[in-house]
Amino acid sequence: MRGKFITLEGIDGAGKSTQLTWIIELLQHVGLQAVVTREPGGTPLGEQLRTLLLDKSITMHPETEALLMFAARREHIDKVILPALKQCQWVISDRFTDASFAYQGGGRGLDSDKLAILEQWTQGALQPDLTLYFDVPVELGRQRVSQLKTTDRFEKEQVDFFQRVRAAYLDRIRQFPDRIKLIDSSRPLMEVKAAVEQTLRCLLNHE
Ligand code: TYD
Repeated sequence: MRGKFITLEGIDGAGKSTQLTWIIELLQHVGLQAVVTREPGGTPLGEQLRTLLLDKSITMHPETEALLMFAARREHIDKVILPALKQCQWVISDRFTDASFAYQGGGRGLDSDKLAILEQWTQGALQPDLTLYFDVPVELGRQRVSQLKTTDRFEKEQVDFFQRVRAAYLDRIRQFPDRIKLIDSSRPLMEVKAAVEQTLRCLLNHE
């Protein structure tokens, strides 16, 4: 027996953060106190790597970027995710490996076979039980990000980058339709919330 592992994905501006708050509330409502974490990050080392990865004054080779993402993930799995799951706790991670396939694979153009090797090396058989992918047209995501006071190294990328990221996410859904559920996040917030609730209730009912 172990807890459930849920991950949230989407292009920047897809509205993950708002939904995360509701997901926590929903789980609390049914008596589940989930461990909420994020990538890159989630551990002291991972958070330092996050600072470097998001710093727009730093340039790095796309493979360096991928390796740092997976290095942070290795630590995250070892120190946070697996210990919590083993204690039957639920874990919600704001992003996980699908983001590497989408951003480093789709966005930066890295070979997905190389990423799959890193995935296998870093996480073995560990996969999320459920991934909620919040889908928005790139223009809408860009519009939301443009309202932020500051943007990071990824958010400052151009439209074509995010089109490749979104296409790679959609490709992941085609590969893993049972695990990754698409939530149309361009709808009014309450409709998105209802769709999230419905998907989570399905997972809870399978408990
Ligand atoms: P994000 O999760 O969007 O946080 P915030 O809401 O604070 O901006 O930021 C993390 C960024 O890192 C996001 O642009 C996607 C990127 N990222 C990757 O490129 N690859 C990865 O494997 C992960 C986990 C994130």
